[in-house]
Formats: sequence, structure tokens, C-alpha cells
Amino acid sequence: MMNTPRSILALLLLAAFGLSQANGDTKPSAAITGSGPFADISHFTLRNDKGMELGLTNYGAMITFIRVPDRNGVFADVSLGYDSASEYINANKKPYFGAIVGRYGNRIAKGKFTLEGKEYTLATNNNENHLHGGVFGFDKRVWEMVQAGNPTILRYVSQDGEEGYPGEMSLTVTYTLTDDNEIVIDYEATTTKPTHLNPTNHTYFNLKGEGQGTILDHVMTLNANRYTPVDAGLIPTGKLVKVANTPFDFRKGKPIGRDIEKNHDQLKVGGGFDHNWVINRKPGDGKLALAARVEEPSSGRIMTVHTTEPGVQFYCGNFLDGTLTGRSENAYLRRGGFCLETQHFPDSPNQANFPSTRLDPGDVFESTTVYTFSAK
Ligand code: GLA
Repeated sequence: MMNTPRSILALLLLAAFGLSQANGDTKPSAAITGSGPFADISHFTLRNDKGMELGLTNYGAMITFIRVPDRNGVFADVSLGYDSASEYINANKKPYFGAIVGRYGNRIAKGKFTLEGKEYTLATNNNENHLHGGVFGFDKRVWEMVQAGNPTILRYVSQDGEEGYPGEMSLTVTYTLTDDNEIVIDYEATTTKPTHLNPTNHTYFNLKGEGQGTILDHVMTLNANRYTPVDAGLIPTGKLVKVANTPFDFRKGKPIGRDIEKNHDQLKVGGGFDHNWVINRKPGDGKLALAARVEEPSSGRIMTVHTTEPGVQFYCGNFLDGTLTGRSENAYLRRGGFCLETQHFPDSPNQANFPSTRLDPGDVFESTTVYTFSAK
């Protein structure tokens, strides 16, 4: 796949992957089949008994759309993305819309870590740093379709040495749409050698509907007393700092835009919020804890996020700049979507004080995140 010219790749994928044909069945929409190396790509829609719909594809294990009702029962697609594979492949910028990112979601400083006395050098794709799994991360891979339907089970086997990581690492992602309007994402992984792993989902949300302006008036609550400040390359300094009396205090809920332009050095380096919050929770208990709650006043739509992970990257689309146009045909403005990427903290392989992202042979990595939708 890596050697396939981009244009051919795009054509094959386009043939393989007709988003607009998703049919709303609870079962996968009848196969949208491809050919050659892309014969396994499909796109399909899960629908629950409330009429909520979830679009999924095994290309990047992406969420392609999320259709949920507002307070009047009017449905809108609240996730950013495209309606054709060629756009996902060929867009001049790739903001990871809807994808599972890995092996490591977020950054590893200078693309280096040491395990068992050996230094590993990863692909660097964010200046001198490694971001979201490297040049050809999990978001750009074709995943094996283990089970189509509800739940949908997808697997990606990352080769030993891929993007510089040690060990053959197998990651299984299970998407379930419940009748309580929850999207449950379960992650499970094993490895053949000690390695580092931190997969997450990179969906951008706009609860007004994708392409409907910015998210600055969404009211965000983050269940976190502390966050991890970063240096100029967005690598954590290693400190866990209290959010109290800073623009990073979302404990009581406030519009995302209220403090975003405040004079604060961390807002300057992030170009706004692009940081990891330390979720208030019992560390390592394996249970779901509240990470975030978001309410959009005009539609009444609410999303809550629960996770077993210790952190959440709240990124508010600072790098979107109006040059990408999504399914609505509207440009995605700067801050036209936000992500809540549940995760271990960035650069954990190099930060002895952070919870470990190491996975050893014989151990099973498990993680769960639940996005729940309602309206009031
Ligand atoms: C994450 C990062 C951001 C940015 C986006 C993708 O949220 O923290 O800095 O790279 O992904 O554009």
C-alpha cells in the first residue's frame, strides 16, 4: 500500500467506499466492495431504536458521521468529515477526522524513547516530534473487518518496526451503538515485544451540526482539577498544574470561547486549547469516569464523555483554517469543531511521573470510552 501511487490509491478507495450510500440499517449497508488491495474496505451505518445513526468504515477505523436529534427531535450530523474517500485521502491537510490514531495518540518528544536499554527512533511528522503514530499511522491504514454490524469489530496488526515502534502489536477496536444513544469504543491490544501504545479516537464534534460555524459558544465542562502544561512544541513539561484561577478551569462549565483569547502563555503555545487535562478519578481502577460534558445552547444537544483513561486532550480545532470543506459543503472554520481525545498523557514514554503506556508481551491493553448524546 505504501508504494501505491496516491492517485491510484484514491481511485480504488473511491470505488470501494461510497459514504453517501450508507443506508441506515442496523446491519452494515450491503457491501460497498473494492478491488485489489482495497477489496476489504466497506462503509456502513448503525442505527438504534431512537433513530440515532453512526457511520463507520474500516479505513482508519473512522467514525464518518453521527446523526443525533436536538431538543425538537431534529437530527443533525454532529461530527466533522467528508462524504467521499478521495477527500479523506487527498485533502492537502489531514486533521484525523473521526479516525483511530495510534500507536500513540498525541506527541512523543523528538520521536524517541528507550525501552529495556534500547533507544527507539520513531517517524517524526510534527516538526521534530512524533504525532498520532507518525507519517503513516493507524488513521491511514485499512483495518481488518472482524465483525460487521452492531457491535462492529475492527482490527489492525501493526508490524514490528512500523513507524519505528518495537513489536508486532495487534489492536482491536469495537464500536457499539446502544439504544441509550451511546457510542461505546472498546480497545484491546497485545504485543510480541515491549512497546508503547496510546490509541484514541479523533472525532471532531460540533453539536450544532458539522459546518455550522464555530464551537466557541458550546458550554464545556471538564472533570479535571489539573492539566499538563506544554512547551513550545506542545510536549508536556512533566508538571501537573492546577486549573484553578486559569483559563483552563472548566470544572463548573463555561463557553469554550469565554477565556480562549485571554493573555496566558499556554494559550499562546496551543493557539487556544490543545492540552491534556488530568481527569479526576481513581487512577488505574479500570472503571469509567466522567471526563467531559458539552452542551450546545441553541440546539440543546448534550454530549458526555466517560472513559477508563487518565487524561483527555481537549483540542478546539485551532489548526482548522477554513480551507477544508466537509459534507455540508460549508468550510470548516478555525475552531469549527472540538475533539475530546481520551488518552494517557502525551509523551508518557519519556515522563517517569506519568502513568505508563508500556505494553508487554503476555499483557492485554484494555480501554473504554463512551460518548453519550441527549438534548434538553
Ligand atoms: C491533536 C493535537 C493537536 C493537533 C490535532 C490534529 O489534538 O494535540 O495539536 O495536532 O491533534 O490537527
